[in-house]
Amino acid sequence: MTVVGIVGAQWGDEGKGKVVDLYAEFADMVLRFQGGNNAGHTLVVDGKKTIFHLIPSGVLRHGTTCVLGQGMVIDLRVLVEELDKLAGAGALDHSSLAVSDLAHVILPHHLVLDGLREDKRSGSIPVGSTRRGIGPAYEDKVGRRGLRVGDLYRPELLRSTLTEVLAYWRPMLEARGAAVPRIDDVVTALAPLAARIRPFVTDTVALLHAALDASRAILLEGAQGSMLDVDHGTYPFVTSSNTVMGGACAALGLGPTRIDEVVAIAKAYTTRVGDGPFPTELEDEVGRRLRDVGAEFGSTTGRPRRCGWFDAAAVRYAARISGATRLAVTKLDVLTGLPQIKVCVGYRLDGGPAAGFPVSDLGRVEPVYEELPGWSEPIDRARSFDDLPRNARGYVEALSSLVGCPPCLVSVGPDREQTIAMTNPFSR
Ligand code: IMP
Repeated sequence: MTVVGIVGAQWGDEGKGKVVDLYAEFADMVLRFQGGNNAGHTLVVDGKKTIFHLIPSGVLRHGTTCVLGQGMVIDLRVLVEELDKLAGAGALDHSSLAVSDLAHVILPHHLVLDGLREDKRSGSIPVGSTRRGIGPAYEDKVGRRGLRVGDLYRPELLRSTLTEVLAYWRPMLEARGAAVPRIDDVVTALAPLAARIRPFVTDTVALLHAALDASRAILLEGAQGSMLDVDHGTYPFVTSSNTVMGGACAALGLGPTRIDEVVAIAKAYTTRVGDGPFPTELEDEVGRRLRDVGAEFGSTTGRPRRCGWFDAAAVRYAARISGATRLAVTKLDVLTGLPQIKVCVGYRLDGGPAAGFPVSDLGRVEPVYEELPGWSEPIDRARSFDDLPRNARGYVEALSSLVGCPPCLVSVGPDREQTIAMTNPFSR
């Protein structure tokens, strides 16, 4: 039995979707543990590329059970759209989907609030959120006003929860000139969506433990990245959940001792969408080149991503706080043709070397770089580590030694086959 966790080691968009898709082949169950439709990954359904935001990639693999865990916040409209796409492709005939009855529901006022918060005049710090209502939904959860998926089927509780939560937000919405959703309208809009997802709603903790008892292979899928973790990231420019591996334990009801391998995924350079500190950001020709060659535009919002050099100090920190045992390096091909490649190996702060990882001072640090030689040969056809040019091998080895984890996979292009698989974490 093996439980493998996947965690983004940067600011999200590390290429987790592709790695989850590859590893899902070996997994009986794929569980997503946090976030909502702020994430996005591309799946090919019926030969057509489609972006999914909630359902893990494993749903297209035969016999895989995909779970939306209780740490998630779920926009039912988006979930139903994804179900319809999958049903159209017959995907749900051979795999199964389970939605936790304890996951929280994103409600119309969450979307309104998320938009208001991003307005610079609102008095809140705009963080460049995806405006999908994620932050406000988690706020209602922690404020004990939230609506859980299972509550959709308890009419009295549904109405009383909506009454309470809308009464709570009414003064703030009215003060900003925003319309307050009507309870009857919300109930009416939720009813068909709740009915559509009902066959999938279940106790996912029991499902997970049945899989553990039966020694099934289990894959844990994180969304966003470690530097966006609400406790460990560049607060307040973070998402609203724990994206680190420990978050999976709390959010799924999985004991920490059950996780066998943790794969930290990092792009061969760094990107970030939204606001907040980014020490290795390049606002020059090289940054633009990374964005163009790497097609660095958000899959959820379409926003251009900020691009910069690999930050080994940040990835090492991310690997440590998640207990990573392996490193997967994605998008190595994007660096082909750069004569020299810089890697940030640490920071200077207030004129001296920064102690530890100065997460609260990342906006003030000066990166310390090492320069590595680049390569000019195309690498998108490399299928083994030895197929890579010497300098590309040297680059991956340098990243892995700086981060402190052996490499298990290198991705050299968007397709499934454009992968150098070095160690399979499921066959320990
Ligand atoms: P929220 O998660 O929509 O509240 O956004 C909070 C911050 O996290 C913003 O800077 C977003 O751009 C960022 N963010 C949220 N989801 C993702 C993701 O999947 N990839 C990259 N950044 C994300």
